[in-house]
Amino acid sequence: AIVPIVMAGGSGTRLWPLSRALYPKQFLSLDGKQTMLQQTLTRLSGMDEYSIHCKDSILICNEEHRFIVAEQLRAASLNSESIILEPVGRNTAPAIALAALQAQRNGEDPILLILAADHLIQNISGFHESIANALVHALEDKLVTFGIEPSSPETGYGYIQRGDSLSDAQGNNESLGYSVMRFVEKPDRETAQAYLDSGEYYWNSGMFMFRASRYLEELKRFNPEMLECCEESLRTATEDLDFLRLNKEAFLQCPDDSIDYAVMEKTKHAVVVPMNAEWNDVGSWSSLWDVKAKDDCGNVLNGDVVAHKTEDSYIHSEGRLVTTLGVQNLVVVETKDAVLVAQKDSVQDVKAIIQELKDQG
Ligand code: GDD
Ligand code: MG
Repeated sequence: AIVPIVMAGGSGTRLWPLSRALYPKQFLSLDGKQTMLQQTLTRLSGMDEYSIHCKDSILICNEEHRFIVAEQLRAASLNSESIILEPVGRNTAPAIALAALQAQRNGEDPILLILAADHLIQNISGFHESIANALVHALEDKLVTFGIEPSSPETGYGYIQRGDSLSDAQGNNESLGYSVMRFVEKPDRETAQAYLDSGEYYWNSGMFMFRASRYLEELKRFNPEMLECCEESLRTATEDLDFLRLNKEAFLQCPDDSIDYAVMEKTKHAVVVPMNAEWNDVGSWSSLWDVKAKDDCGNVLNGDVVAHKTEDSYIHSEGRLVTTLGVQNLVVVETKDAVLVAQKDSVQDVKAIIQELKDQG
């Protein structure tokens, strides 16, 4: 059995103004069906085919979002083992440590499947197959990453250099996984391009699989202070309805870092298992446009929208009627209190707008 850990504490700012501090991306429905969080949990079912049993998940998110999380689970009849509440975000390395410690609390030491709550995966059987492949290595005490075939020199991802092929006990399965030569988190554009050209690198999907103790040992080696802060905030946590509320004082002391920098760049025990699952981290409006079904003019139109002589654009209305005329490659997002109009290839810079809004107070 494996225990899924769902990280749902990010702020998803690049999908502003739809994704907001109080309602970030993972709690939105981007295709009019389930929200990203609900899809993350729902796509875990059906792994019995590989004789893998997924236990109830451990969720970890910001305390501000506790009712959104609880309501989204209830609405989709999804169960969770526990919901850990962070008083502040300290990035993914502590979040995963807390979940790993929680998973060990009955003296068990399960295999964990670490998932982001805000990824789109369109090929569920490909996803399941990679998990089955990964389990082989996680049971051998490896830290497994899931590698995505890269298609552009994205700078927002981690890059994994593939080493030797690891075959199974019979020595006959070439596709099972590879040793990791190097893990580089968010390289600059030039480096990313060189990695892409070499053909030896995968994108890091941001999902992981390992035994709880394996991760905690590595964290102890590379950042013992972080581990101590996590242990202390969980030891002194309080139960509140269905939630486990971390001790604020203790967690405020915790260093801030992602699993990628804190552990994956440094560990010698990493393995990469390829994943063919039509994965997309839908980090921006343009990547959302990429994956969505488009009309004959290449447009994605959501809500009350009339688009005339409009091409290759993403037009989204939450309430008011939005009309466009004679435009191409635009992103227009209308919400109750803010409207974004952007060139589709500039949308990575939405963060600059948020920064400007913050500076203005
Ligand atoms: N609980 C909790 N607390 N969750 C968090 C926190 C936190 O402080 N910070 C982020 N998360 C959650 C996010 O909601 C998301 O589901 C996941 O952890 C990953 O965080 P991101 O902030 O989205 O990371 P990233 O996209 O910049 O980079 C990671 O993902 C890429 C793929 O999408 C890295 O793992 C990269 O290497 C990877 O390529
Ligand atoms: Mg992300």
